Amino acid sequence: MDIVILAAGQGKRMRSLLPKVLQPLAGRPLLAHVLASVRALAARRICVVYGHGGEAVRARLDAPDIAWVEQNPQLGTGHAVQQALPHLGEDGRTLVLYGDVPLIGAPTLARLAEAAGRERLALLTVELDDPSGYGRILRAADGRVTRIVEEKDATGAERRVREVNTGILVAPTARLRDWLARVGNDNAQGEYYLTDIVGLAVGAGVDIVTVTPDAVTETLGVNSKAQLASLERAYQASAARGLMDEGVTLIDPARFDLRGELVCGRDVEIDVNCVFEGRVELGDGVVVGANCVLRDTRIGDGSRVAPFSHLDGTLIGEACVVGPYARTRPGTVLGNGVHVGNFVEIKNSRIADQSKANHLAYVGDADVGARVNIGAGTITCNYDGANKYRTEIGDDVFIGSDTQLVAPVRVGRGATLGAGTTLTRDAPPDQLTVSRARQQSYAGWKRPEKKR
Ligand code: UD1
Ligand code: CA
Repeated sequence: MDIVILAAGQGKRMRSLLPKVLQPLAGRPLLAHVLASVRALAARRICVVYGHGGEAVRARLDAPDIAWVEQNPQLGTGHAVQQALPHLGEDGRTLVLYGDVPLIGAPTLARLAEAAGRERLALLTVELDDPSGYGRILRAADGRVTRIVEEKDATGAERRVREVNTGILVAPTARLRDWLARVGNDNAQGEYYLTDIVGLAVGAGVDIVTVTPDAVTETLGVNSKAQLASLERAYQASAARGLMDEGVTLIDPARFDLRGELVCGRDVEIDVNCVFEGRVELGDGVVVGANCVLRDTRIGDGSRVAPFSHLDGTLIGEACVVGPYARTRPGTVLGNGVHVGNFVEIKNSRIADQSKANHLAYVGDADVGARVNIGAGTITCNYDGANKYRTEIGDDVFIGSDTQLVAPVRVGRGATLGAGTTLTRDAPPDQLTVSRARQQSYAGWKRPEKKR
């Protein structure tokens, strides 16, 4: 089967510089959702018809299995499909769908293709309480489809029909070629309507079958930011439902956002307002507190992320406690039983088992051993304004509060750094190292007084 995705519309009502099909839904462009669904079918060729802002679309989503076809000017959906004809096989059939109808599912498309077989024209249709704006499916007394009439061309009686054309169809390619050559533009909009092939199919004695989607949301298009937001909610509701079906506890499925892939073990609990981006894996018994953002992160069994934490590109072992208000950046690798507390930032660092940084610290480009205690206010000075350097901290080190480690620098295993130390040279193992002005007290010292 060949695929044609129509995506040449300007999307003026989005009032955005970003082409409509690049507007994100669940963190991915609308068109990427459609591409993912058609790739789940055994498609021979995917043809994307683009127009306004098309170069940006192509730059963002180009792939070896896509043929890009420019439609300029845009003279209607029939004209759009015609532009793609040179890329379609002589034999076989063609599935036409829209780049701005993002939630179309592969199972619905597979049923449509199945219904079409080799020779039939299959239309995806839905019944709507309010069909306004859509093309109506007209049927004869015996129920056979006779024609699709666009709203602007419809009579009052035709407008009362509630079965509408979703625009998604499968047609035998050779027939499609022939019909499109005969479609004219003598209608209310002066456009070449793809929908006119239905009347031509009837004339040619080709069977027309209709299929309804698994869910109506699959056929809803995006023309405005309000529609985009409403489809986003539909997507999130279904993602949340899927996770709950797998046994994940979502404290409130209406306050859960997935913008990528989330894989969960058993008895995972997610509190409200969390956002998951990229690929996130949560092990058995992981608890994620309220208002966390997790991106490309893997968390081991029994670990807990306390509220308001932001984890990115991070690997967390088992039985760790992270947050509240923790920030881990790409390259962070935590062993088992590690504690990362409030206002602690970690970047490109490994922290081994049972180590703790419980308050207000920056650990960047560091290798931290096991059972290390990093005191409040500790900072790795990893950047000299031009280059970055590593800090190495051995096992069982105790770092007093408000310590600066000026990298590159090493702290030997079992060493203790006194509070307030600015470490500029390596600290030997098992010793106390402290760099601090000596404390003095002045007996009889008087505060200055204001002069009269
Ligand atoms: C179309 C259908 C209508 C159906 C409705 C479903 C026709 C004539 N009408 O109407 O029966 O109920 O979709 O939403 O087909 N496009 C191009 N090039 C063009 C024109 C459109 O690529 O020259 C693309 C648009 O980007 C969009 C899709 O085709 O993705 C549909 O175009 P749109 O203008 O929204 O069609 P409607 O008038 O809504
Ligand atoms: Ca439309």
